[in-house]
Amino acid sequence: MKTLTDIITDEVTIAFTAHGYDEKYGKVSLSNRPDLCEYQCNGAMAAAKEYKCAPFMISDKIAEELRENKKFESVESVKPGFINIKLSADFIADYIRRMAEDKGRFGCEQTENPKTIVVDYGGPNVAKPLHVGHLRSAIIGESVKRIGKFMGHHMIGDVHLGDWGLQMGLIIMELKERQPGLVYFDENYDGEYPKEPPFTLSELEEIYPAASAKSKEDEKFKEAALLATHELQQGRKGYQALLAHILNVSVPDLKKNYENLNVSFELWNGESDAQPYVPDMVQMMKDRGFAHMSEGALVVDVSEETDTKEIPPCMILKSDGSSLYSTTDLATIVMRIQDCHPDSIIYLADARQSMHFIQVFRCARKTGLVDEHVELKHIGFGTMNGKDGKPFKTRSGGVMRLEYLLNEINEEMLKKITENQKEKENLDISDEEAVQIAKTVALAAVKYGDLSNQAGKDYIFDIERFTSFEGNTGPYILYTIVRMKSILNKYEAGGRSLPAAAFQKPQSASEKNLMLVLARFNAMMANASEETAPHKVCAYIYELANAFNGFYHETKILTEEDEQQQISYISLLMLTKDILETCIDVLGFSAPERM
Ligand code: ARG
Repeated sequence: MKTLTDIITDEVTIAFTAHGYDEKYGKVSLSNRPDLCEYQCNGAMAAAKEYKCAPFMISDKIAEELRENKKFESVESVKPGFINIKLSADFIADYIRRMAEDKGRFGCEQTENPKTIVVDYGGPNVAKPLHVGHLRSAIIGESVKRIGKFMGHHMIGDVHLGDWGLQMGLIIMELKERQPGLVYFDENYDGEYPKEPPFTLSELEEIYPAASAKSKEDEKFKEAALLATHELQQGRKGYQALLAHILNVSVPDLKKNYENLNVSFELWNGESDAQPYVPDMVQMMKDRGFAHMSEGALVVDVSEETDTKEIPPCMILKSDGSSLYSTTDLATIVMRIQDCHPDSIIYLADARQSMHFIQVFRCARKTGLVDEHVELKHIGFGTMNGKDGKPFKTRSGGVMRLEYLLNEINEEMLKKITENQKEKENLDISDEEAVQIAKTVALAAVKYGDLSNQAGKDYIFDIERFTSFEGNTGPYILYTIVRMKSILNKYEAGGRSLPAAAFQKPQSASEKNLMLVLARFNAMMANASEETAPHKVCAYIYELANAFNGFYHETKILTEEDEQQQISYISLLMLTKDILETCIDVLGFSAPERM
């Protein structure tokens, strides 16, 4: 369906051309003075310059021309030359009806140019538990993926495990100190390696921090770990077997953690999967003269004349020939181009990594790993801070494990749900159901708290605010949906089934306002996808929930005596609920039946 703005623009454009003005002046936008009108056109101001007359002389003519148009309730020319538009009740009701009939899409057409888009939004490091730093990329990336999918793009999420860096060497060396007799360390061993891993998940999670701490004090240990990393990358068999064990032990746990976040990946590739592409890629960069040695390392210059700050060369290999973070990212591009043929690769990673991505992207382009039509985009997100404005930490100052953080919020939410239940006395929610509801609402609280901010900005993770049932929060949105579900249940409890959509003219300003907000769904979603901006979906549903609650407080729905009118209200409520639920689904959370 055409967006409302486009339909109105078409009408206004016809009026402009009918009076001999260029069509470009007919552009209409949402009113920035909702107290005066619903849509506005400022074209007369610009046209006045071209046609050398006073703007209101043009706006007067256009308003006059449009006055009889059935789509509009009023069209006013306001000095100096604004055209203020209000839509007619019939027109908006008809638009809403068509939206409701377009089940599942609600007037939002899929894109005409579907693209294949790889979204890289995991980045957990194996053998290290997920921490809050990985929360933002998971939350934002999942939503970017779902929004794109809703618009008809072919979206491929890749977890891109961190499994090829120094942390691997550290784990290997720590394990060697603890269990030196394991066959994995014997270079002359050429039998089969055991199927059972030599550690459990909790041992593994304890090994890494121990090794990391040791490497900071013990230079020799660190050197051994660097060497082990190098040997692993060069294909040392025992170490490869250990890597396989590490992955087998940690991946199921990572999957479980992501599942709890309602996040899932199409591809479970890791940095290590890109290694086979490294030798040819490096050779090409050398052969074609892109790569040269600098201070012992192999680098590609990526600075450009127009740079206003220094962009250091992109490191391709370390002096010992080991791969670096940039090496695996470049080789992963080669792999993705070959396997997925993407039109675009989007990376979700901390904004502090922006230099890394500038270097990698420039290097990939310069050396021809991607042709120019492939888009490479880093969405750098800001830091999640605690209430003190500093990066979020545990009470003792350590890095917060994601699991603990989520548990804390689940508990907070459970408390609120039970309090709420006591207040309402009549709700007979069992303990298990309460726990389930708390989880659903807690996830909405965390995700909405994150997604409602523009990704690039830092934000304060404020559990109290995020879990509040009032204000611009996830629980408020869910509460609004639950309220609608309860009205619909009561309607049905009277022995009636839910009606097929039938809409009457809006009866009040609040009802018309609700319809106007609903009608913006298609344009909003297309724009959120275009700009990879989940926060726009959040802003929209907050406005929609407010518009609904405004309507609801003024309107007696269940006691309405005119049956046709009641059906119209119920239709409107169903459409609002469906759109809210579609939106929270693309944000990656859901609503309970009650709360
Ligand atoms: N593993 C990295 C980290 O924990 C994030 C990876 C982001 N993605 C990428 N392709 N570089 O910082």
